[in-house]
Amino acid sequence: MLRYLTGGESHGRILTAVIDGMPAGIGVSPSHINRELKRRQAGYGRGGRQRIEEDRVDITSGVRFGKTLGSPITLQIPNLDWENWKEKMAAGKGSAAAVTRPRPGHADLAGALKYFSRDIRDILERSSARETAARVAVGAAAKRMLALFGIRVLSWVVGIGGVSYRAGAGERPEELFSRAEGSVLRCPGKTATSKMKKIIDLARNRGDSVGGVFEVAVTGVPPGLGSHAQWDRKLDGRLAMALMGIQAIKAVEVGMGFEASSTPGSGVHDEIFYGYSGKGCSYWPLERRFFRKTNNAGGIEGGMSNGEPILLRAAMKPIPTLYKPLRSADLLTKRPFSASVERSDVCAVPAASVVGEAVVAFEIASSFLEKFGGDSIREVRRNYRGYLKQIKSF
Ligand SMILES: Cc1cc2nc3c(=O)[nH]c(=O)nc-3n(C[C@H](O)[C@H](O)[C@H](O)COP(=O)(O)O)c2cc1C
Repeated sequence: MLRYLTGGESHGRILTAVIDGMPAGIGVSPSHINRELKRRQAGYGRGGRQRIEEDRVDITSGVRFGKTLGSPITLQIPNLDWENWKEKMAAGKGSAAAVTRPRPGHADLAGALKYFSRDIRDILERSSARETAARVAVGAAAKRMLALFGIRVLSWVVGIGGVSYRAGAGERPEELFSRAEGSVLRCPGKTATSKMKKIIDLARNRGDSVGGVFEVAVTGVPPGLGSHAQWDRKLDGRLAMALMGIQAIKAVEVGMGFEASSTPGSGVHDEIFYGYSGKGCSYWPLERRFFRKTNNAGGIEGGMSNGEPILLRAAMKPIPTLYKPLRSADLLTKRPFSASVERSDVCAVPAASVVGEAVVAFEIASSFLEKFGGDSIREVRRNYRGYLKQIKSF
């Protein structure tokens, strides 16, 4: 079983992630992980913190001479601003003024009440999306494993602050991804990118913030990941949870998603064909196979991957910290006040899409290992090859 946990506060000394269950023999190095961390920090509309620190990982266990050992992998990302926070975030003696003003849209009020804390810093330090750096590091390791089997996890932004981008019919995920990599907003369309930048500028000037929508595609996935047999083994359910677990993500769609609810069945369900599909893929070269001409299901039916690319979409709410103050009530005095801002992103949808890739990569790697798992990558490869042979001769 592949699993992970993260630990660490936003302004704490270090963020840590421990991955357990990764097979031995996968090439993982700090440079692979740092590349992903850098992608998370990019994007038009980010706040001051991304400029203070360039995240860098330390691999402190589970990898030797560039290869995983099969033992727990510990990843650590130090806080480069720790010197300025060590008094306020000390594990032992320290000092800091209590934060008593809960910010709307944050974990502040619910967390203070739940954990019975009169200093909101006890809550906000962990609820902050800074934690997603650890998840991106975990996802980078998962991507390394998936790459050995030709599986890629790709994302791009399709909406910001009400400006939408619609891909042309038949555009492949790889093309959309490569254009997104060249955009400051991870949007494949040039015109849409410049409209989105304007919306962000407008929001910034008004002291406001904006949300948006990103898509994640997984290519090269074989049929049969996940299962119809039990609710918590359904791949779509697991992917939705992974995406909804990202700070500020409020809705997830698989394939056609909400649109399917208002479209007749004949326009939704992807008909099944057998023969030469004309599109080879990593697990199945140009050979006869079952295939679809449409992919409204987003590559998942009955909780299982069906062999088509997996297509997911996630909606992010606007950043809750606004330069234009929102009204709130003080925890101690119970008096009204206007929530003020230290420093914040105006828009973090491009960053969230990189986090989306990471959590999806982990979930796909985890279901892949449930089906083909072994202690070494050699064993996993053998299991995988055997399965492909079996379905090819079906
Ligand atoms: C990559 C990323 C960056 C974020 N940056 C900020 C930020 O700078 N300021 C802010 O108020 N919220 C930011 N958020 C959103 C908050 O962390 C989130 O809305 C808050 O923790 C409450 O959680 P919820 O929205 O899931 O209810 C960010 C979220 C993500 C995914």
